[in-house]
Amino acid sequence: MSLKPNAPAAGSRLAGFYALGRDERLAALRARVDLTDEDLEALRTGGLEWGRADKMVENCVGVFGLPVGVGLNFLINGRDYLIPMVVEEPSVVAAVSHVARLARPHGGFRAEADEGLMIAQVQVVGAPDPAAAAAALRAAEPELLALADAVHPNLVARGGGARGVEVRVFEEPFPMLALHLLVDCVDAMGANAVNAMAEGVAGRVEGLTGGRVYLRILSNLADRRLARASLRVPEEALAAPRAGMGGAEVAEGVVQAYRFAEVDPYRAATHNKGIMNGVDAVAIATGNDWRGVEAGAHAYAARGGRYRSLTRFWRAPDEAGAPCLWGEIELPLAVATVGGSTGVHPTIRALRKLLGVESARELAGVMAAVGLSQNLAALKALATEGIQRGHMSLHARSVALAAGAREEEVAAVAAALVSAGSVKHDAAAAALARLRAGEAP
Ligand code: MEV
Repeated sequence: MSLKPNAPAAGSRLAGFYALGRDERLAALRARVDLTDEDLEALRTGGLEWGRADKMVENCVGVFGLPVGVGLNFLINGRDYLIPMVVEEPSVVAAVSHVARLARPHGGFRAEADEGLMIAQVQVVGAPDPAAAAAALRAAEPELLALADAVHPNLVARGGGARGVEVRVFEEPFPMLALHLLVDCVDAMGANAVNAMAEGVAGRVEGLTGGRVYLRILSNLADRRLARASLRVPEEALAAPRAGMGGAEVAEGVVQAYRFAEVDPYRAATHNKGIMNGVDAVAIATGNDWRGVEAGAHAYAARGGRYRSLTRFWRAPDEAGAPCLWGEIELPLAVATVGGSTGVHPTIRALRKLLGVESARELAGVMAAVGLSQNLAALKALATEGIQRGHMSLHARSVALAAGAREEEVAAVAAALVSAGSVKHDAAAAALARLRAGEAP
């Protein structure tokens, strides 16, 4: 976050933010970040005009709105971040803010990410002697790297470029070779550069192997571009009085929940989905390719031959001997701070300014911290009172809206649904009718 020189010290801790009106929330953000009138206008209107949208995809007929929330309380590597999140699911923004608040007094998150290495794949079929073909490709590494760099001098000028080759040899049932070009994409996601490089070396690869090149495309399993984050929370801070559970019991529940995802892919899919609730929301807000991020995360989760958790939780004392819950996450995050839709979409421009990261690696670290927070929030809820109760009041607001409640009616209708314990469309319509008739909803 690019804090203003006169900004309040506690950059991401905006107590009572949820209770403010929209203009007050925007004013609170503006007090901390150099948002222009145009940025605020983009947030108010959704930003993307028809004319621009029509240039982005084919057969365009409209623009699709989604809520933008701000994840609060994040302290990552000693720095405050306001986290823009685009997500339609209730509870996600509140959940990450809750865990960030728990972690904050204990140093917040540590996060880091590898350099921006992407893999370009070149598929070779029909090489008469696969072992000799693989050796020839390896021996030609300097030539292939130079050829690839020549395709994208701009990337080289920005400090990136082709860094190495690897060859994978596949046998039965479909014998083939895959050449991997490892390309440092720096702050770009790199799809265009990497694909162009793969296409650029293809002719020479055929010459070296005697085979035929078919596919030339990046791999979304960006396992040379991993991001990691970790946190610790004293167990006493995890107590859940509403569920009648002490901190140690909750910490044990979280660890057991993580272990469930380690042993069972059916659980791991849901566990990792929760992580991606947070990660995707930031990916979308910052104009990144969240389908690529999703593909990479799930492929990485299955890397050992069984689909598992992307996070790990354990209990151990801290250096002062206080019992703590520790958590960490590792996943591929091929994300960018340059290129893509940044220049085209005014809301993304404003949200990137709000987040204020300076490099793709910094962004990846932040996203890892958000994914870890979302996961811990879900496991904590699941290990205590269950997910439904927390979801209910936010879900009730969506149901009230769907039943036709106007903005000023939503809170009363939602409260009526929650207290009746029935968050259903018919109940919302009935509560709305009572409210409009001047009765208690
Ligand atoms: C819902 O979107 C996400 C959760 O199912 C994640 C989980 O079960 O860990 C609550």
